[in-house]
Amino acid sequence: SVEEMEARVFEIKEKLGSKVFIPGHHYQKDEVIQFADVTGDSLQLAQVSAKNSKAEYIVFCGVHFMAETADILTEDKQKVILPDMRAGCSMADMANINQTERGWTEMQQVFGDTIIPLTYVNSTAAIKSFVGKNSGATVTSSNAKKMLEWAFTQKERILFLPDQHLGRNTAYDLGIPLDQMAVWDPILERFEYEGDLSEVRVILWKGHCSVHENFTVGNIEDLRAKDPNTAIIVHPECSREVVALSDYAGSTKYIIDKISHAEAGTKWAVGTEMNLVNRLTKQHADKEVFSLNPQMCPCLTMNRIDLPHLLWTLESIENDEIMNQIKVDSEIATWAKVALERMLDRA
Ligand code: 13P
Ligand code: SF4
Repeated sequence: SVEEMEARVFEIKEKLGSKVFIPGHHYQKDEVIQFADVTGDSLQLAQVSAKNSKAEYIVFCGVHFMAETADILTEDKQKVILPDMRAGCSMADMANINQTERGWTEMQQVFGDTIIPLTYVNSTAAIKSFVGKNSGATVTSSNAKKMLEWAFTQKERILFLPDQHLGRNTAYDLGIPLDQMAVWDPILERFEYEGDLSEVRVILWKGHCSVHENFTVGNIEDLRAKDPNTAIIVHPECSREVVALSDYAGSTKYIIDKISHAEAGTKWAVGTEMNLVNRLTKQHADKEVFSLNPQMCPCLTMNRIDLPHLLWTLESIENDEIMNQIKVDSEIATWAKVALERMLDRA
């Protein structure tokens, strides 16, 4: 039963003590989050992993690229475990290293040495490594603006991987007009751009998040017509049109802080993953908090980490059988770390 599983997790956590550290992303289920030693957005989780040198095992409750990042930033003696290997990220899968290298060659031909690559942390270690080797850095949704500003001090143009929406929303905030942004289609290996490419300042990789694409202009119009007093807050992985029509946009931490500090009686429609929206609804009974899309939008891969997988992982550690260790190849890790540290030094 659930109660028995919870009791076992408590018991093993107690027994293993500081040997095990459990970071949990805000999109994780409550049944998992209740056991997290720390919760956070991608940036916070990268930072705590980098600082934690005590734990021998880091049981990462999040998705694959986050566990890779933790492995890259922690010391060799620490083992990073992902409770279910199927917990990937469809956005990270939209940029593979071969496509990226081919696209980069093409872009060098068009723009010469005027581009710096930046990658959202929601990408594979191989992409981070590519970016590190080419003088670029990683970004998260909470420091994207700062990192784009930095990148423009280095080169005239930015290639932003793999989320076109975070790239476009952030560049737009910095005052770059939309007609100076081109989309690179990695499947067809060509630019989507009408006009003279020499005008382009930001090249957006054609990737997106399959959860956040479910929040639409239609959802916003419906809500505004029904209830103009509800504030709309969305994640910047939503499209430009959706962000433009919303009242606020920011990382998961930003969304949580904004709603936590809001006055009692206020109403909030939230455009982000369902587990986080449901948790905010429960935690803020004095406010009305609901999903911007009435269908509710789960991240299926985040949800693969559940109580049975957490228990199974902790039991395997208890028995000294190491399962599902995430170990990034050392050559890739070296350069990926360079890209991550360029961000962490500035974040
Ligand atoms: P943040 O927690 O950094 O806002 O990221 C959201 C996300 O989609 C993680 O996969
Ligand atoms: Fe990836 Fe989107 Fe899920 Fe985040 S919410 S892990 S970006 S698919």
